[in-house]
Formats: sequence, C-alpha cells, structure tokens
Amino acid sequence: MEQPAIEIEDLTKHYKKGVKKKIVALEGLNLEIHQGEIFGFVGPNGAGKSTTIKLMMGLLFPTRGRAAIMGTEAHLPRARREVGYLPENPSFYDHLTGEEFLLFAGSLVGMKGKELKERTQELLDLVGLAHARKMGIRKYSKGMMQRLGIAQALIGNPRLIVMDEPMSGLDPLGRAEMVRLILGLKEQGKTVFFSSHILHDVETICDRVGILVKGRLTYLGSPSQLAESPWWVLRLEGNHQEILRKAGFPRVVLMGHLTQVEVPPQDLWEALERIRTLGLTLYSLERKRLSLEDIFVKEVKSEG
Ligand SMILES: Nc1ncnc2c1ncn2[C@@H]1O[C@H](COP(=O)(O)OP(=O)(O)OP(=O)(O)O)[C@@H](O)[C@H]1O
Ligand SMILES: [Mg+2]
Repeated sequence: MEQPAIEIEDLTKHYKKGVKKKIVALEGLNLEIHQGEIFGFVGPNGAGKSTTIKLMMGLLFPTRGRAAIMGTEAHLPRARREVGYLPENPSFYDHLTGEEFLLFAGSLVGMKGKELKERTQELLDLVGLAHARKMGIRKYSKGMMQRLGIAQALIGNPRLIVMDEPMSGLDPLGRAEMVRLILGLKEQGKTVFFSSHILHDVETICDRVGILVKGRLTYLGSPSQLAESPWWVLRLEGNHQEILRKAGFPRVVLMGHLTQVEVPPQDLWEALERIRTLGLTLYSLERKRLSLEDIFVKEVKSEG
C-alpha cells in the first residue's frame, strides 16, 4: 500500500495549567492523510488544530501517541525535509525585504544560485507580492505577511504542504487566489493539509474534512459524501427540544419559535409517525443537503 503522507496515532497533548490542572488540547487523535489529498481541518477556537499541526511538525512533544510524515517520525528533523509549513502567526526577520527573506528561506532548504533566484521570483508572482519585493517586511500589511508566509512554505517545492489558516488575513481576492493555488498544488500531485475557519472554502476544495471539537475528532468525511444523501429537515411549531431529544431524535435545534429536527432519508416515515404520536404540529418539511457549516454547528453544539 502507498505510504500515507501523514499518519497520526492516538496523538494526545495535555498542557499543564498551574500545578494540578491540565488543559486537554488534543485527545487520542487517529488520522491518516493520503498522498495527493487536500485535507481541511476545522473546529472552533481553541479546539486543538494548531496544537495538532505543531505536533505534526515536531515543534511540540506529544503527551502520548505519535505522528509520522511520509513515513518518518515527526520529531526527527528529516521528517521536515519534504514539508512546507505555514505557521499560524508567521513572523519574519523584519529587517529583510520580502525578496531577501525568500532567498534566505530557500537557502535554508538547500537551494542556491539561479534556481533559487528564479523560484523566488516565481513565488513572488504567484502570491501577488512582485510589486513589494524590495519593500522591508516591517512595512508589510497583515495580508502581505500572510502571502509571504505562503511563498516561504512553497519555496523548496515540497511534496506536502501544511498550513495553519492560510486564508487568514487575506482579502476576498486573495482568498480566491489561495483556493486556486491549493487546487493547483493538488494538480501537481502534492498533498495539502490546512486548517481554516472559512468553511465554504474548505467545502469547495477539500477531498476530506475533519472537525475537531475540544481536542477530539468528531467528524471525518468527504464533502461529496454529504451531498449524496440529503437529510430531511422538519420544522415544528413551538419549543419541543426536550421532548424530541428524549424521544431519541439526535439532531434537534431551536430556531426562533420553531424547533428544527434533522432526519436521515431512511428514517423519515418513522420520524413523522413519532411526531404525530407526540401530538406536535408540523410547520414545514424540506429536503436539504447539509453544508459543512451545518455539520460544524451541529458537532460543536452537541459537544457543548
Ligand atoms: N502553549 C500552551 N500552553 C498552554 N495551553 C495552550 C498552549 N497552546 C495552546 N493551549 C491551549 O490548548 C487548546 C488548543 O489550542 P490551539 O491553539 O491548538 O487551538 P486552535 O484549534 O488552533 O484554535 P484557533 O482556531 O483559535 O487557532 C486551547 O485551550 C489553548 O488555550
Ligand atoms: Mg489555531
């Protein structure tokens, strides 16, 4: 079988908080990322996404478990050889210009001479910083810093690109360019793993998506799997959250004066029967393809 690009087993990270308390940032994560895949990692603030990414990059030691990159254990420096990494808050030597920084970053991964110069110009063009190549990084805006970080992650032409919120700080045009860039990387056969809060982008471009809530993976699947079996959305008049939950409906949310219940296609008739037996009034019934956003909200609420 083909070597997975990333292999994560029982990966766990607890941070100490004071003498006795601990923060469970990540608990028992198992995940395999295939080569050539675009994987989107989503979850609310503080869910443990950046912690996971830092563990993958060997920047943190796990409390338990392991991660391997292209078959090499993450804590070994050579695991990073074929990986481009965009950290959550990239910071640079700000006495350099953007161009100087990329030349420096390239030299760190063993590039030099004409190849490095050409690669630098190519990347400055790719991320839309060609006009600012001679400008000191300290004068860069947030979005320009982010673009430079992306160029830096790509400089060594890595086979695996790991990015912690690549769209953050980018304007809508920049975001759209980022989406194109990631799809372009996939076309070149590369593997992309990124975290994001922009669920629409994640849904559009990812082969698979993982939702992390409070350090646990609560959903793993492809966005197209979601599209295949649209669920039924039933709305009922009044607040019947309690009674419906007790009756065994897992997906119940209150929406203003309506209670919304989501039911998989095969369960529709049984659900309607149960609602009738409970004496509740049906307000509307529609078929709906769940968006990643729907699933996200649901996973976060049910863990809440
Ligand atoms: N160095 C640290 N020391 C102690 N606790 C930490 C440390 N880094 C992160 N945490 C805690 O670990 C948890 C997970 O944080 P993490 O940064 O991984 O979340 P995240 O999913 O990346 O969030 P965001 O979407 O806001 O970037 C949080 O509760 C955070 O407070
Ligand atoms: Mg983060």
